[in-house]
Amino acid sequence: MNTDPVEPAEVVLEAATPADALLLSNLLELYSHDLSAAFPDVEIGPDGRFGYKKLPLYWSEPESRFPFLIRSGARIAGFALVTRGSPASDDPAVHDVAEFFVLRRHRRSDIGRRAAILLWNRFPGPWTVRVSGGNAAALPFWSRIIADFTGGTATEFTRPGEPHPWRVYSFDSRPRPGAAGEQTP
Ligand SMILES: CC(C)(COP(=O)(O)OP(=O)(O)OC[C@H]1O[C@@H](n2cnc3c(N)ncnc32)[C@H](O)[C@@H]1OP(=O)(O)O)[C@@H](O)C(=O)NCCC(=O)NCCS
Repeated sequence: MNTDPVEPAEVVLEAATPADALLLSNLLELYSHDLSAAFPDVEIGPDGRFGYKKLPLYWSEPESRFPFLIRSGARIAGFALVTRGSPASDDPAVHDVAEFFVLRRHRRSDIGRRAAILLWNRFPGPWTVRVSGGNAAALPFWSRIIADFTGGTATEFTRPGEPHPWRVYSFDSRPRPGAAGEQTP
């Protein structure tokens, strides 16, 4: 019997092109369905789709919107949408995690953490991450991985929101002088 430990598949962040629009819109349906359990305003349309009107902007505004697929090896594991400029900051240079999703079968395999670190390292500088107080899985996820990534240097504040307030994390993803080790996935 082969008892060698199995190497986890490499997590890759792949810039999504217009050819990936249908794939991303399908993944956004799964994401929206997950979020609809906690957010009454995430409502399915009469065509049975949630829809995501801003998706085309991710290719028409390439200077401020960045769409990514998350792969685990060759398999699709999720996606991330990033904007330059954040609803939670006056700084136009800040990057913001607009949407972030890991498919259910890939959850709790460290893929979300590794993909988030790839994102932060891809755009070194100021970041915000906003998470709704109603998102029971995302709150401990972001809280844990941001604390680990920043060595506890991120700032946090609460922003009013309906039906739940937002938890907002702000930090700088550039390597910290004197920090031990690399901020690697
Ligand atoms: C939140 C989400 C992205 C987490 O992705 P993931 O790949 O499962 O996360 P990871 O495996 O990298 O988790 C890293 C750590 O975060 C914490 N964590 C992740 N999911 C958690 C959960 N459901 N409950 C409590 N803690 C959790 C744990 O500390 C975990 O480490 P551990 O597994 O060793 O305990 C995923 O559940 C998801 O896509 N949810 C639906 C969409 C969503 O809410 N997106 C975020 C919008 S702000």
